[in-house]
Parts: sequence; C-alpha cells; structure tokens
Amino acid sequence: MTKIAFIVGSLSQQSINRNVANEILKNAPQGIEIEEVQINDLPLYTQDLDSQSIPAYDRVRQQIKEAAAVLIVSPEHNRSVPAALKNVIDIATRPFGQNVWTNKKVAIVTASPGAYGGINSGVDLRKIMHAVGANVLNQPEVYLSRAGLEIDERTAGFLAKFANVFFQWAE
Ligand SMILES: Cc1cc2nc3c(=O)[nH]c(=O)nc-3n(C[C@H](O)[C@H](O)[C@H](O)COP(=O)(O)O)c2cc1C
Repeated sequence: MTKIAFIVGSLSQQSINRNVANEILKNAPQGIEIEEVQINDLPLYTQDLDSQSIPAYDRVRQQIKEAAAVLIVSPEHNRSVPAALKNVIDIATRPFGQNVWTNKKVAIVTASPGAYGGINSGVDLRKIMHAVGANVLNQPEVYLSRAGLEIDERTAGFLAKFANVFFQWAE
C-alpha cells in the first residue's frame, strides 16, 4: 500500500491550511494510506539533541522515511515559512548523514486569506526543499489566495485537479 504523509504548517485550531489539506486529500484514490506528520509537539531543534533519544523526533523522521511522498500545506508567516514547519524540516535532515528528505517526493501548497496566496512562503519552501535534496513537484504550483474555512466549488475543482497530479506522481 502506498503511504502518503502530509504536514500542515499551521498550529491553529481552526486552520485554513488544514481545511485545504483535507480538501486535497479527499481525492486520494483507493489503496493509498494517508498519515499526518504532527508537528505541534516537536521540541525546537538543536544539534545538542542529536545524541539524545527524542520519541517525537523518531516518529516524524520514520513517517517521512516511510512515505512515498509528502504533501506540505502551509500558511505564510511574515513573508516566509512558519517556524513550526521549518522546525520539522530541520529535524528530518539530522543527525548528519541521516537526512530523510533525500530524493523524497514533496509537493507544496500554500494558502492565505490575503491576495497573494502565501506565495513568499511557497517559494521559500521550494528553495528549502531543493536544498535538503527533496524531489519537489514543480507543477502545478498552488498559492491559494482569498482562502477561508469555506471552500467553494470552483476552488474544490482546482484542488481536485492538483490532487490528481499529486497522487499519480506519488505512486
Ligand atoms: C505571525 C503571523 C504572520 C502572518 N504573516 C502573513 C504573511 O506574511 N502573509 C500572509 O498572506 N498572511 C500572513 N498571516 C495571516 C495568515 O495567512 C492567516 O492567519 C491564515 O489564517 C494562516 O493560516 P492558518 O489558518 O492555516 O493558520 C500571518 C499570520 C500570523 C499569525
């Protein structure tokens, strides 16, 4: 069974990006196992922790390692990637030599209630994921503007098209 992991880059209880992630994942074909990589309980990364056993670190590293592909759906915080998302990205690159992002298929979506769809966060994320050696889905690029907790039919259709490309690529 193909495993897909997803990460929501927001810690909010009522997250627009979680809503967008759910809408995309609704379109998963049969035979796909979907698992969230939770990021809300991860201690802030420092190299000092490499010598310690941190169960939450082991969990996320293992989930990313086992996934055929990872979908990241994230807001933009102050024109870039939210700190909690950057934290899990860093955790999964270490200890040195055990980077689980290497050649990992990663798709990136950003959403914002603003006019620019979190594009700065999306573009920064692409740069970071290339730097850590991931295999980033280049097209379609999704920066969802004017996003809210309600998803209209047109947006749902657009996200379904993205989902079809993503799941075919992931398998
Ligand atoms: C610390 C902070 C910084 C933000 N900076 C931006 C920003 O640079 N660009 C933007 O489009 N929205 C920004 N926002 C607004 C978010 O897009 C908005 O809060 C959105 O709901 C976050 O997504 P979420 O609901 O999935 O958490 C910011 C929000 C916070 C809390």
